[in-house]
Amino acid sequence: MKTPLLGGRTPRNFLRDYWQKKPLLVRGALPGFQGLLTRNDLIGLACRDDSQSRLVLQQKGEWQVEHGPFIARNFSHLSKKTWTLLVQDVNHFLPTARDLLCRFNFIPYARLDDLMVSYAPKGGGVGPHFDSYDVFLLQGMGRRLWQISSQHDNSLIADAPLKILRNFRPEQEWVLESGDMLYLPPGYAHNGIAEDDCMTYSIGFRAPSYQELATQFLVYLQDHIKITGIYRDPDIALQPHPAQISSAMLRQTGVALGKIKWNNADIERFIGTYLTEPKPHVFFTQPSPLLTQKKFALQVKKNGLWLDLKSRMLCRGKTIFLNGDAYTVNTIACHTLEKFADHQELPAGEILDAEAMILLYQWYLYGYIRMVS
Ligand code: SIN
Ligand code: CO
Repeated sequence: MKTPLLGGRTPRNFLRDYWQKKPLLVRGALPGFQGLLTRNDLIGLACRDDSQSRLVLQQKGEWQVEHGPFIARNFSHLSKKTWTLLVQDVNHFLPTARDLLCRFNFIPYARLDDLMVSYAPKGGGVGPHFDSYDVFLLQGMGRRLWQISSQHDNSLIADAPLKILRNFRPEQEWVLESGDMLYLPPGYAHNGIAEDDCMTYSIGFRAPSYQELATQFLVYLQDHIKITGIYRDPDIALQPHPAQISSAMLRQTGVALGKIKWNNADIERFIGTYLTEPKPHVFFTQPSPLLTQKKFALQVKKNGLWLDLKSRMLCRGKTIFLNGDAYTVNTIACHTLEKFADHQELPAGEILDAEAMILLYQWYLYGYIRMVS
């Protein structure tokens, strides 16, 4: 269906013509959008120890970065400098932020990273740079000038505490007003400068490097391979230099390592657990008071369930991945849990089989899901 969010295009056409290919400016993507939180709300989030935040300061061409939590920081003293406060994972704290992300569900959740929100007074920005992920830059309160460039010169200012392009050559620029949005594919150079008190909402998508995937897959394999046998050398040869590693030892080692094998089931399990693994600063809290399993089942039937805002849930075949764990379930349970993962909520009155109910109760105890009250 054609949508104003994509400038009157269908998601299918957007994916075909723009996604990972070229920028798209959308005027009035979310008409009337003024943002989801105030500057002070954002500062409040930046003070929490379960959030990730940065403060970027610029004075006379010198860049500085501070990392949160900013519990003792006085933001009113910053008024003489140009600054930007950026908070990641705002969707972990605001249900409205999760609803905003859901508008972008024409991109699979496996690619979604988070909603980052920035605040900058007039003149503030993080400098010209490029990101290695796709991003939709949605303007909340205020106006921001965006300059973009398809340049291939990615050289950076040496010794700066953040990545700033040394030779940024803008090719196009627009002032975005509340509700306007700019989509940028990975690697596209951009620079945003606040025209007045301004808040920008970045809907960001993750794309792990092949190096990261390979490294993490090796970590996964560590716990999943089983290779039998032990190094043996009953026919060991006399060596004139005892410090030398022999060719026979190299050969035998090569044969043993050649036994490391994996299959599609390993790839599936790895990618599901890797993509749903909570970020290091994320922790879950058990609900209090705890309901018994019987009361839990009654309440779920009556009111339904939410996925906790910090939870990441994906599925593949009959396996459900939740916060770094894999659960293989029967077909009926799988059908229900898949729906839960797609909609991030389970409506009241849903018929749940015993296996699904046992898992849901376990996830409730872990704090991965929430009761609708
Ligand atoms: C910002 O919101 O200030 C920066 C967003 C970006 O450039 O990716
Ligand atoms: Co950027």
